[in-house]
Amino acid sequence: MDQQGIRKVRDHFLEHFQTSPIVVFAPGRINLIGEHTDYNLGYVLPAAIDKGIVMALQQSKRPISMATALDMEETHSFHLNSLKPISNGRWQNYIMGVVDEIQKKGKKLGPFNMVFTGDIPPGAGLSSSAALENALVLGLNELFQLGLTKKEMVYISLAAENNFVGVQCGIMDQYASMFGQKDCALFLDCKTLESEAIPILSNAFDVLLLDTKVTHSLADSAYNDRREVCFKVAQQMGVPSLRDLNLQTLLENKTQFSKDVFQKALFILEENKRVIDAVAALKNNDLRTFGSLLFQSHAGLQNQYKVSCEELDFLVSLAHKYEAVLGARMMGGGFGGCTINLVAKGHSASFIKKISQAYSKAFNRSLTPIVVAIGSGATIQ
Ligand code: GLA
Repeated sequence: MDQQGIRKVRDHFLEHFQTSPIVVFAPGRINLIGEHTDYNLGYVLPAAIDKGIVMALQQSKRPISMATALDMEETHSFHLNSLKPISNGRWQNYIMGVVDEIQKKGKKLGPFNMVFTGDIPPGAGLSSSAALENALVLGLNELFQLGLTKKEMVYISLAAENNFVGVQCGIMDQYASMFGQKDCALFLDCKTLESEAIPILSNAFDVLLLDTKVTHSLADSAYNDRREVCFKVAQQMGVPSLRDLNLQTLLENKTQFSKDVFQKALFILEENKRVIDAVAALKNNDLRTFGSLLFQSHAGLQNQYKVSCEELDFLVSLAHKYEAVLGARMMGGGFGGCTINLVAKGHSASFIKKISQAYSKAFNRSLTPIVVAIGSGATIQ
């Protein structure tokens, strides 16, 4: 987010509330590898990006709180003691959810005014919702001196999404947006919530996202269904989560499960291993191995975990044919959104041109390329 966004929220705030606000930035995220492993308490390798949400906020003397989404030209007013999710509400529910979770922890808030804008491309699966939650919890922590740690704030953002918005996502997005480090990916253990920053050699390749511009209606129900399948396998095997199941035990118990369920559980175990291998490859500057793990991850998401779609498969299989593309796979929950492509420096423009032409020919819709830079996590400006 550039200075322009910061100026925009600050000016708007000053004009409407005649008082100077604090300004907070929280980024969106990408995920290099480790998909659907977060809610299985496994490993992920996400990174914060240079695009995100900028928010201006200050305490209010009136009893009511007011939140304004500048880009949508919408304002929502609410009382701190009567918070209810709005049916078909969007950004409003993330805001009230964070407030609700802070209060549930026994922390005292007062009324506040808030204005935000953002530059995360909508619908691309870059976690604008986690950025919004994190910006608010960080801002309120500062404004009301709540004394929350960053980890507590991550859990508040996640709980807002799980309990108030009703999306059963894992912790990856909120964690990456809060703890991201410039030019590094975070090797995060979702069980212990410990992470290690891994430099991602961004002078060797571009991180190119190709936005399919599709969202299939299956997305939400399939996400919950996959969670359920994983939890049931863990339960049946007597472990708290698939993270605690080893490959040997799963293989020995193969006949207890249908072929489909077995493959899904196997995918999670293999994907966890791929994250560990990918981190080792990055540390050894072995980009070919790193890239091939991304292709393997996609194959598993497509054939075993079954959360891909025609458009994503098309892009990844085409990317595989380009020497300059080190690795590619679908990113995020699936059934639409983006593929992530690691493209050797100097080759992105020609790759984008060719793959865009092929995509519009095949699907009669245009592909949106987004080259992202790896930025830092949420901060008070
Ligand atoms: C979505 C969720 C994340 C994670 C991914 C899949 O992006 O928000 O928590 O589960 O899907 O890896």
